[in-house]
Amino acid sequence: MEGAPGLAKTTAVKALARHLHAPFQRIQFTPDLLPADLTGTDIWRPQEGRFEFQPGPLFHSLLLADEINRAPAKVQSALLEAMGERQVTVGGRTYALPALFLVMATQNPIEHEGTYALPEAQLDRFLMHVKVGYPDAAMESRILALVRGEARHLAAGTAADVPEGEGLDTRMVMQARAEVLDLHMAEPLERYIVEIVLASRDAQPYDATLAARIAWGASPRGTIALERCARAHAWLAGRTFVTPEDVQAVAPDVLRHRILPSYEASADGWDGGRLAERLLELVPVP
Ligand SMILES: Nc1ncnc2c1ncn2[C@@H]1O[C@H](COP(=O)(O)OP(=O)(O)O)[C@@H](O)[C@H]1O
Ligand SMILES: [Mg+2]
Repeated sequence: MEGAPGLAKTTAVKALARHLHAPFQRIQFTPDLLPADLTGTDIWRPQEGRFEFQPGPLFHSLLLADEINRAPAKVQSALLEAMGERQVTVGGRTYALPALFLVMATQNPIEHEGTYALPEAQLDRFLMHVKVGYPDAAMESRILALVRGEARHLAAGTAADVPEGEGLDTRMVMQARAEVLDLHMAEPLERYIVEIVLASRDAQPYDATLAARIAWGASPRGTIALERCARAHAWLAGRTFVTPEDVQAVAPDVLRHRILPSYEASADGWDGGRLAERLLELVPVP
């Protein structure tokens, strides 16, 4: 999740964590963070005369990597490697991460001072890159009311908890995942997804101007992510089949960090999300 400070990025992930009955950990990324602060480390146990592995915050089901671009590359790659491989190696031994493992990361826009941009190749490991914008007047008023309500609760010592029986546990998430995979996806729709990704690599057959705006297209991870997210979007709408609209709804967020604009296009305000939107206008809908 990317957006300017104060747009409730942290608040949003914490709200998700409150409703997910699984181990949650927030890590504030700072310039002095070390890879071992994430993975954990071998601790010497003098009584037993041996080292014992002390698992780090990575071994939680939901992890908030807050302000991920404030930590240097070594720490970022320790996290991104774990996300790619679902395991962590410390002191020559490999440890599996939990079956339910979700990393949410926030970052301030990269122009901000004192930040380290995440390497493009590694960004690919995130399923989506969501941008958070400023709220409008009506929304600002609702935020005021909401925050006032929270402050009253806090003062009264009745901080809003998730009511008994609400929220999701690990089993329910796994069940939902299985259902998402079982949704029907027609053959032409699968070809549509592939064609969008191929067009991101070579848009020449569609539009020469657009082709010149793209320096780098999406990888097969992008194809897989687009298919998964379109399915999830259909599932959330309560349907048993996936439509082109599902693909179109998720494509900008799925492709934003996977399509790299050329230097000139970037200077003209094009980002991967906008390029993806343009591709959706060009690729024929089945
Ligand atoms: N859309 C919103 N809905 C609810 N609260 C909001 C919203 N935008 C901002 N806030 C409030 O603004 C404050 C800043 O939010 P925070 O999550 O710390 O921002 P960020 O992590 O993006 O810097 C919080 O107290 C939050 O409740
Ligand atoms: Mg924050």
